[in-house]
Amino acid sequence: MSRVSAFDDFLATFDVEPGYLNWAANGPLSPSVRAEVFADADLLGSGRPSSLALVADRIIQAKETAAELLGADASELTVQPSATYGLMHAFYGLSGAVIASSAEFPSITVTLERAAQASHGELSPRWIDPQDGHVTPAAIVEALDADVTALAVSHVDFRTGFRADLAALREAIGPDRLLIVDAVQSFGVVEDDYALADVVVGHGYKWLRAGRGTGFARFSTAARERIAPVLSGFGGVGGPLPVDDLPAAASDASAYTVNGPDQLAAARLAVGLSAVRDAGVASIEAAVADHVDAILEVADRHGIPVRSPRERARRAGIVTLAPEHPAPLSAALTNAGVVATTRGDAVRVAPHAGTTADTIRMLDDAIASAGNEKFTSA
Ligand SMILES: Cc1ncc(COP(=O)(O)O)c(C=O)c1O
Repeated sequence: MSRVSAFDDFLATFDVEPGYLNWAANGPLSPSVRAEVFADADLLGSGRPSSLALVADRIIQAKETAAELLGADASELTVQPSATYGLMHAFYGLSGAVIASSAEFPSITVTLERAAQASHGELSPRWIDPQDGHVTPAAIVEALDADVTALAVSHVDFRTGFRADLAALREAIGPDRLLIVDAVQSFGVVEDDYALADVVVGHGYKWLRAGRGTGFARFSTAARERIAPVLSGFGGVGGPLPVDDLPAAASDASAYTVNGPDQLAAARLAVGLSAVRDAGVASIEAAVADHVDAILEVADRHGIPVRSPRERARRAGIVTLAPEHPAPLSAALTNAGVVATTRGDAVRVAPHAGTTADTIRMLDDAIASAGNEKFTSA
C-alpha cells in the first residue's frame, strides 16, 4: 500500500465525536485498538497454548515497533505500566546531579525528588527555572558542572507545547552525560532523532490511541552501563524463573522491568504503534501542524493570547490559550461540546491528525458566541 493511501486510511479511523481537542490529555481508543481488546480476550479465554502465545507475542511486536520508531534495537526496549515507571527505573539507578526544569510534568519532578531522597546523597536534582519553562541549550549550559551526570527533559512540554531541540541539548551536555527524554507529548506525532537520547519514555494513552497500561522505555547501551537496575524484579533477570537462585539482572533493557507485563495492554500498544508506523510519523506531524495553524488563526482573530511557540520546529500538537479571563472561555467551550483542558490560567487545546474542520469550527463558534470582551482586556 502506498504511503498516501496508508495515511488516508489512518485518518479514516478517527471516529471520535466532533469537538474533541484534548489529545494531550487522553486519546480516545482507535477502532483497531478496540477490536484488539475483544479478539485478545477471546484468545485468552480459550486456554489453548497457541492462542495464549499469540497474545504474548504482542509484547515482542510492541517492543519491535517502538524500537523501529525510535531508531533503536528491540533489545533496548521495555514495556512498562506507564511512562513514569520508565523514569523511575532510570532515576532510582542513577547517581550524580540530574538537571531538570522545576516546571516539568510531575513524572519527572516528583520521581527525581523521590529517587534523590532514597539515594543517601548519591543523587541530587539540579533544578533549573528557565524562562517560560523552555529547556534550551543556554539554560542547560548555565547549570552544567562536573557533577552533572544527566539531563531529564520533556521533548514537548505538557504546559506550553514547547518542543525541545534534542540535537542541541545533546550537544550542550556532550556525549558522556545521559539524555533522558519524556516523549509522552511527542512520540508518534513528532519525527525526530530519538536515538540522540539514552533513555526515552512514552505511553500509548494519548497520541497512540491505545489506552492506559501502555508505557514503554528505551535504555541505550550507555544508559545500561550507567543506570543500576535497582528496581529490577525477578522478571528482569532475562533467563528462566530464578527459583533457588539469585542471578544478576539481564544485560539488555529487560533489567529495567519488574515482572511480566499486562499482555492485553501490550497488545493495545502494539496495535497503536503499528497504526502510526504504517501511516508515517512525518505525515501525522504535518497534519497536526496544519490543525495547530488553524487553531492559532482562530485564537489570533479573537484576540486571545497564545502561550505556545509559533514556529513549527518548536511546537507539536499543543496550543495553550492564555485569555485574561479563562473561566468564561472554558465554560463556553464546555457548553459547545468542545473538549479541552483548563489548568490554572490557561486553556490547552490539542488536535490530532484526524481532527476535522468541523471541530475547529466548533472551537471558533464557541469563542465567538461568548464574546471577545470576556476573554481579553482589550
Ligand atoms: C509530559 C508527560 N509526561 C508524563 C505523563 C504521565 O505519563 P504516565 O501516566 O504514562 O506515567 C504525562 C501525562 O499527561 C505527560 O504529559
